[in-house]
Amino acid sequence: MKTIFEPFRIKVVEPIRLTTREERVDLLRRAHWNLFAIHADDVIIDLLTDSGTSAMSAEQWAAVMRGDESYAGSPSYYRFESAVRELMPFKHVIPTHQGRAAEAILFSIVGGPGRMVPSNTHFDTTRGNIEATGAQAVDLVIAEAHDPASTHPFKGNMDIARLEALLEASAERVPLVMITITNNAGGGQPVSLENVRAVADIAHRHGKPLFIDGCRFAENAWFVKCREPGQASRAVTEIVRDLFAAADGMTMSAKKDAFANIGGWLAVNDDALAAAARNRLILTEGFPTYGGLAGRDLEAIAVGLHEIVDEQYLRYRVRTNEYIGEKLTALGVPIVLPVGGHAVFVDARRFLPHIPPLQYPGQALAVALYEYGGIRACEIGTVMFGLRPDGTEAPADADLVRLAMPRRVYTQSHADYLVEVFEEVVKRRGELRGFRIVWQPPQLRHFTARFEPVA
Ligand SMILES: Cc1ncc(COP(=O)(O)O)c(C=O)c1O
Repeated sequence: MKTIFEPFRIKVVEPIRLTTREERVDLLRRAHWNLFAIHADDVIIDLLTDSGTSAMSAEQWAAVMRGDESYAGSPSYYRFESAVRELMPFKHVIPTHQGRAAEAILFSIVGGPGRMVPSNTHFDTTRGNIEATGAQAVDLVIAEAHDPASTHPFKGNMDIARLEALLEASAERVPLVMITITNNAGGGQPVSLENVRAVADIAHRHGKPLFIDGCRFAENAWFVKCREPGQASRAVTEIVRDLFAAADGMTMSAKKDAFANIGGWLAVNDDALAAAARNRLILTEGFPTYGGLAGRDLEAIAVGLHEIVDEQYLRYRVRTNEYIGEKLTALGVPIVLPVGGHAVFVDARRFLPHIPPLQYPGQALAVALYEYGGIRACEIGTVMFGLRPDGTEAPADADLVRLAMPRRVYTQSHADYLVEVFEEVVKRRGELRGFRIVWQPPQLRHFTARFEPVA
């Protein structure tokens, strides 16, 4: 089948306001060229994030009505807990209002000055939460991940030798090992089941627990099914269970692979860690059976977890990104290969070689996509990762622009429009200019920094 078959019908629609280029030039100036400061009503296709932007199903909306808002012991919590444990069999499931709250609770307990937390690649909030405790976040992804042209099937894999060396040298500083599936900051690339098991073996040999950042676990499991030898005939749900059976805990943002608009959780097997986490939870989020969420949110997550492992959905999901990737490649736009699970990542440093990394080529491309087509994308490069804890700045490993696909929201004609906008930007690429930052906060600067075009 050539047509991408969206395996759903549309029951509720949201109009999209079409803006002109002149309007958008003015909106950009007023937003100090930071796309996070643009009002969503002024965006035509919003690919800023796949987080919390999913279209909920009729079943999820029905479940919302079943939400029970009891302060303690809500049946909605128990439905949520059993949906999580059906896929991720951890002993304690602690709901949080989103993924970073789970990270903040975990690292407030196990982080601290002198500690080190290795991962394949920490996402920015994970890194931020680790560093906020004075600990060091260490990325140990395989070398192929740094080569956008490499078609390695599991570019999210951890470099086993480097992990082993780090644990040999500094085990006493490491409270836990983490692995992010799929590897968002590294291009949405998957991690193989074999790699997760190998990482777990090494961690356990050194007496360290393995935690999975499981935000996009279903997309990761789909890639395992499609690409890993011996996995093709297995159900996605079985693969998911195997991935998590190797680990001792997880953090999760339900805003991704649970089709929810809000929510997350921390899950652990260790009783003492769970008790400490619940104490923090009560201080910062809420009682352990709602943890910063309404009962109705817990219901939406429980249903979303059943729907996300549907293989027809996962096929459509991944095919949409491949389709966009193929069209951009045909236009000569360099992208990270293979195309990721939740997004297409454009290599802005290669696309705009005349803009040096410290003038943020990713920001320049993201701004151009908005100006020429009202498309909002996200810089994942020197703006996001270039500010070091001591306040100095260095180019990130890569300057990427992420075109993140909200789940079940856009159709193939929206994808075709995106490709048309790229055609225009390709024609104008020589005219695009870099940016300088004129104001920034000390952490997570990409959300609020103010920019000015370089003359
Ligand atoms: C891999 C990864 N981990 C953690 C998070 C944080 O989750 P949240 O946005 O729900 O706080 C994200 C969000 O984008 C993510 O992609």
